[in-house]
Amino acid sequence: MLADDLKILLATQYAFAVKTQYFHWNVEGPDFAQLHEFFQNLYEEVYNNSIDRTAEFIRSLDEYTPGSMERFIELSAVAGQLRVPRARLMIEELLADTTLMIDMLNQYFESAEQENQQGIANFIAERLDAMAKHAWMLRSFLKDNRA
Ligand SMILES: [Fe+2]
Repeated sequence: MLADDLKILLATQYAFAVKTQYFHWNVEGPDFAQLHEFFQNLYEEVYNNSIDRTAEFIRSLDEYTPGSMERFIELSAVAGQLRVPRARLMIEELLADTTLMIDMLNQYFESAEQENQQGIANFIAERLDAMAKHAWMLRSFLKDNRA
């Protein structure tokens, strides 16, 4: 059901935004300034452009949203991070999470179309664009030498 999909999406985006902010706070190394700012832009983009809209689409489907850390942990497809990884590992982890979220969005796009929810499908397509851009930037940080 699309509303259940969106609850998982909401929790997953929240977990991703919290992790990215955690990395913003704790990143260290020679690229500190760049990564500190990059991580901030990333969690703000997801938080500002997606989390509230996802929740309001759940309401428009006449379901209640999850809204506690406990529920988000139960529902999220993205795991939290308890350690402070090295900078490169932070980027690799966020890239893996982003890739997972792109797969999730592709799947939910189909659910939205099957339930004839074109507005939600359109929102999911916008999020696919945004997440693809984040994945490109994360990948670019990992590429230090070109042959
Ligand atoms: Fe900050």
